[in-house]
Amino acid sequence: MHELVLTRPDDWHTHLRDGAALATTVPHTARQFARAIVMPNLAPPVTTLEQADAYRERICAHIPRGCAFTPLMTLYLTDATTPETLIGAAASGRIAAVKLYPAGATTHSSAGVTSMDRIQPALAAMEEMDLPLLVHGEVTDGTVDIFDREKVFIERCLEPLAVRFPALRVVFEHITTADAVEFVRAAPHTIAATITPQHLLLNRNDLLTGGIHPHHYCLPVLKREHHRRALMEAAASGHPRFFLGTDSAPHEQGRKESACGCAGIYSAHAALPLYAEAFEAAGALDKLEGFCALHGAAFYRLPVNTERVRLVREPWTVPDSYPLGDGKVVPLRAGAALNWRLGHEH
Ligand code: NCD
Ligand code: ZN
Repeated sequence: MHELVLTRPDDWHTHLRDGAALATTVPHTARQFARAIVMPNLAPPVTTLEQADAYRERICAHIPRGCAFTPLMTLYLTDATTPETLIGAAASGRIAAVKLYPAGATTHSSAGVTSMDRIQPALAAMEEMDLPLLVHGEVTDGTVDIFDREKVFIERCLEPLAVRFPALRVVFEHITTADAVEFVRAAPHTIAATITPQHLLLNRNDLLTGGIHPHHYCLPVLKREHHRRALMEAAASGHPRFFLGTDSAPHEQGRKESACGCAGIYSAHAALPLYAEAFEAAGALDKLEGFCALHGAAFYRLPVNTERVRLVREPWTVPDSYPLGDGKVVPLRAGAALNWRLGHEH
C-alpha cells in the first residue's frame, strides 16, 4: 500500500495554546484536520462563553489561507461554574463540550474541580442541555501511585458518574490503560474515549530506559506494554467509541528539558503519519479512517467531513524542533524518520 485516501479527519483533543504559539500549532493542526476540539487550559483558563469566543478569534487569525478549519471551543469546568453559564454556553451553539480537570492533575489544572460533589448541579445542567463532558481521568490523591491513577479514577469517579447521569455524554480523554479500554467497552453508548498517538506507539520504557526522555513525558504518563497493546487493539478493532484525540501539548524546549519538566508531547506536526504508522504496525490500516474521521463525528453528532486527505508512504525526517513563540518545541519523533507523509488534498 503506497497511498491512502481518507475522509478528512478531526482531532477531538488538542492544545493550541495562545499568543505567538498559535502561529505554529494552528497551521500544523489545520493542514490535517477539518475540526479540532480545543482544550481550554490556558492561564487563566477559558471559563466563559465570552472568553471562548475571543480565543476562537485568535485561533482563526492563524488558519492558513485555503485551509478549511473549524476550531470547536470548550469551557474549563471549575467548582464555581454555574448551571446558568453552561446552559447559556450550550444554547449559543458555540461551545462543543466542557472539560473536567481534577485540580492538580496536569498542566494548568490548578483551577480545576476539587471534588465531584461540588459539580453535581453543573453536570445535571450539562446532561439536560446534552453538552458533552470531557474528562481528564486521573485521581490526584497523593497516596495513589501515578501508574494507577487512571484505574482508580474509573472506580471512584467515572462509574458513579455514569450511574448518576445516564444521559450525559462523556469522553474519557487520552486513555492509557487496559482498564480504561474495558470500562469503555462495557459502558453505555454515552461514553467514549480518545487515544493519543504516543499511547499507541510508546510504552514507559520509551520514557525511562537508556536515560530519562523528557519529550516522552505526558499525562497520563506512558504505561506498560500490556496497556499499549490493549489500546492498539481497541483502536484497531473498529469499535465506534474509540477515536482520535492527539492531546498534542507543546511546551517550550527548556520547560521540558528541566529539573522539573512539564507534561505534554507535541504531535500536531505529524499526527496523521503517526497514527498511520501505529495502525500499519497493527495490520489495521483499513480501520484508520473510522478511528480518525468517522467515530468522533458520530459521537459528537456532527456531520462527517466531505473533503479528503491523502497519505503517501514516503519516508521523511521530522525536524529537530519547530519555533514556538520566542522559543522552540521539540516534536514527537524529532530528528527521526516517519514512513507516511501528508499528500496534497483533493
Ligand atoms: C497537557 C498540557 O500540557 O496542556 N499535558 C499533557 O501531558 N497531556 C494537559 C493534559 O491534557 O493533561
Ligand atoms: Zn490534553
